[in-house]
Amino acid sequence: MLRSRIIGCGSYLPEKVLTNDDLVKTVDTSNAWIVERTGITQRHIAAKDELTSDLALAAAERAMKAAGIGADELDLLVLATSTPDNTFPATAAKVQARLGMYHGTAFDVQAVCAGFICALTVADNFLQSGQAKTAMVIGAETYSRILDWNDRTTCVLFGDGAGAAVLSAEEMPGNPSDQGVLAVRMHSDGRHYNALYVDGGVSSSQTAGYLRMQGKEVYRHAVVNLAAVAGEALDAAGLTSDEIDWLVPHQANLRIMTAIQQRLDLPREKMVVTVDRHANTSSASIPLALVEAIEDGRIKTGNLVLMEAIGGGFVWGSALVRW
Ligand code: UT7
Repeated sequence: MLRSRIIGCGSYLPEKVLTNDDLVKTVDTSNAWIVERTGITQRHIAAKDELTSDLALAAAERAMKAAGIGADELDLLVLATSTPDNTFPATAAKVQARLGMYHGTAFDVQAVCAGFICALTVADNFLQSGQAKTAMVIGAETYSRILDWNDRTTCVLFGDGAGAAVLSAEEMPGNPSDQGVLAVRMHSDGRHYNALYVDGGVSSSQTAGYLRMQGKEVYRHAVVNLAAVAGEALDAAGLTSDEIDWLVPHQANLRIMTAIQQRLDLPREKMVVTVDRHANTSSASIPLALVEAIEDGRIKTGNLVLMEAIGGGFVWGSALVRW
């Protein structure tokens, strides 16, 4: 059978770092509160002239280098973002051109913090069906542009960044020891639209708006839904949680991440954590964490990696990948 094998990853973080102590100077918060409730100590913030496409391009170029391929080999680019450069065209179109990819197709997907899982799912389906051979999947965000910097319940939680993965369609025997994407699972439940949303938009207000969140509501759903969808991907692949080498969760809050790790009965050392330094970078958080664990030698060939994420909508999903 055809499987999508991840052949290279790359990431990019803007240079500017904003620490909790920096935030204390402008918002009624404390380092102790942020660390205790979220595990976050700092976040990266894009420069004024740095757009989501710039972050995406830098991550994609690094992923192509890691994969050892040129842009002419890509025939699909799927970019997940909730903070596009413009209302249209897709930010993916700009990245496609700047990469030098002049064929195939490129488009954005919008699944908020579950964006990378959604983009990976879309690309995996293109590759498995034979509609594309080599795909670039990107998660890129500039949440600093949609944060209300006077709202302490949200502005301390997010950061900017981008991550990317190159997928190649390869013929495999079709068993759980295959390399590549073994299972993807996605869900959404639009009844929770107002639990996490941006109070602007072209059709509703002709403004960009600011992120608004009922934190407790998101938290409650996150723990239950993420544990369930992680189990679904394992079941679909015919594997069990004790076979997982690395849990690479969406990095929103260390407490939510730990709750999932414990529900999966995994030792703490098997979870990749970057939320402390990156904060919540939405669709970029999983590939940013992947790159860190690949580059420091934790994720190795043959390892089983479970990723999961939930975002506004709610939309949530998981991906089980053999490295
Ligand atoms: O990618 C998915 C996106 N989002 C998430 O995953 C977020 C999910 N939710 C969460 O991570 C948590 O709900 C938060 C970190 C957002 C909040 O933690 P919490 O333990 O649910 O706190 P809370 O909202 O119940 O607030 C507790 C108190 C409140 O004060 P009172 O009413 O008890 O006096 C807040 O006003 O903490 C206060 N508070 C703050 N204090 C200092 C809220 N934000 C801050 C802050 N600094 N930044």
